[in-house]
Amino acid sequence: MTQDELKQLVAREALKHVVEDSVVGVGSGSTVNLFIDALAGIKGRIEGAVAASEASAERLKRHGIRVFELNSVDEIPVYVDGADEITEHLHMIKGGGGALTREKIVAAVAQKFVCICDASKFVPVLGRFPLPVEVIPMARSYVGRALLRLGGQPVLREDFKTDNGNLILDCHGLSIADPPALEAELNNLAGVVTNGLFARRSADVLLLGSEQGVRTQKRGG
Ligand code: 5RP
Repeated sequence: MTQDELKQLVAREALKHVVEDSVVGVGSGSTVNLFIDALAGIKGRIEGAVAASEASAERLKRHGIRVFELNSVDEIPVYVDGADEITEHLHMIKGGGGALTREKIVAAVAQKFVCICDASKFVPVLGRFPLPVEVIPMARSYVGRALLRLGGQPVLREDFKTDNGNLILDCHGLSIADPPALEAELNNLAGVVTNGLFARRSADVLLLGSEQGVRTQKRGG
């Protein structure tokens, strides 16, 4: 199976987690795009969606799925999103597409985070994928120096602005032995909006697509 076929497989599997008549949280990226396309097939059975990026919101609307502002929604039973890396503890690196801040906010509201990935994303330790850090533009150099002190090599993402008007530093070479601790440390740097570690609010369920089919792993299970 190709990587796209594996993504298709987990995108369809995620439909089983969607709660009828609810507002679904929708992340971003190529795997989530396939989930949105699958969601269109059951759009009559959901109230609508909250999107973690402008691109996902546009795609949902093109399918005729109602998109709600997060502030107008009381609860999101399920949030479906991809990841750039994920471990057996369901800690993740996210933000390859630059939507990490809104993804983290919607994930924080959601009762259940369902992560959909192909097997290439499953890693023993996080950090081979450069860690995205969203920064307020005036803090770019300050945060860059702090990341260097932590042992990383920050690289400014060229010609890129987040949906919030900020910059992304992609930090290579960090040793991420304790993801929740590093997530908190980076969040404490002045000028950091969010970092791409999703460890303090990890996924609850992982749907991992491989040649053997979809493996479901639950947090703590
Ligand atoms: C975007 C993300 C995506 O979930 C992550 O980059 C995975 O994307 P894809 O499904 O295209 O591999 O965090 O900010």
